[in-house]
Amino acid sequence: METQTLLVDPQAPDEAVLEHAAALLRAGQLVAFATETVYGLGADATSEAAVRKIFEAKGRPSDNPLIVHAADTAMAQRYAGQWPQAAQWLAEHGWPGPLTLVVPKAATIPSVVTAGLDTVGLRVPQTAVARGLIARAGVPLAAPSANRSEHISPTLAPHVLDDLDGAIACVLDSGATSVGIESTVVDCCGPVPKILRPGPIDAATLEQWLGAPLAGDDDDAGASDDASAADSGVARSPGQRPRHYAPQTPAIRVGSFEALGTLAIGPEDIVLAIGNLTPAVSAKQSITLLDPTLAAQQLYAMLRYCDGLDAARIVVIMPPDEPAWHAVSDRLRRATVPAEAG
Ligand code: TXA
Ligand code: MG
Repeated sequence: METQTLLVDPQAPDEAVLEHAAALLRAGQLVAFATETVYGLGADATSEAAVRKIFEAKGRPSDNPLIVHAADTAMAQRYAGQWPQAAQWLAEHGWPGPLTLVVPKAATIPSVVTAGLDTVGLRVPQTAVARGLIARAGVPLAAPSANRSEHISPTLAPHVLDDLDGAIACVLDSGATSVGIESTVVDCCGPVPKILRPGPIDAATLEQWLGAPLAGDDDDAGASDDASAADSGVARSPGQRPRHYAPQTPAIRVGSFEALGTLAIGPEDIVLAIGNLTPAVSAKQSITLLDPTLAAQQLYAMLRYCDGLDAARIVVIMPPDEPAWHAVSDRLRRATVPAEAG
């Protein structure tokens, strides 16, 4: 199959282009489009056959549930079997936006979408392209990040083509995504909401919106087998693997600049200093990202860029252990192995 790339204005997407892509979706094809977080690979969430194509194109294991994207809150609610009060509060504050709410699912969502779970992750994305596309398609879109399974998430249309050219019908190219890392996933099914995946909306903001604390990791017995959960207080989300978002180049992490000393950094290595100003090192390339928002925005493009440099190792100096860095740290832990193990 030939993959069409169609350019669209992110602010005012051309109606005819959106209609063309919406028609492909209604016909059961796959279309990649920009949300504010990363590019998603969309399919009609109500069609089992269309959704199966997502798993095939990505090489995604079928035990990893997909997020269902709606054009607005009213549309999202139609695909919930129940709408808990916590979901209502969080949706009022956080939608449209980088927030996914896990709630009981409606029968109209086939079980292939949710990997057999009786819950569904719902999200109303923010971009004019995503919302316009969903509204025109007239159906909710199941959309994981538009990368090959376990690879780095795409924040530019060329990233999507690098992974999926020839495997999908169309990509709408509206430029770089603004947030850069995937949505915060919150489980709203229990008595106390719980973060399943840290993201752009942090725990303190969610608690402010709820007017009550979130469930901590002590409340979740299953959390300990997830690398992220172990050090970030986040419960386990099905299908989320400790190794994820990984470059092909061996990637290792250290906690501080001082720890670089033991690694004998040389001209074949790349050093990424995240949230740290570091003295010069004699590496092939050395990149510093100091601001958490900017680091999230640039993280995946930077990892893909580093992967193209044919380096021996990518060595990441991890950001400080502060709430503002929580989501970026989570993604970096999944993209790397600790230096001691590397
Ligand atoms: O920002 C995002 O969320 C992007 C854009 C495209 O919207 N999508 C995304 O999808 O990151 P994906 O498939 O790469 O990640 C979906 C995450 C997984 O961690 C999955 O386990 C969790 O959401 N998830 C989805 N449905 C769930 C459910 N019913 N229960 C628990 N976790 C769920
Ligand atoms: Mg993904």
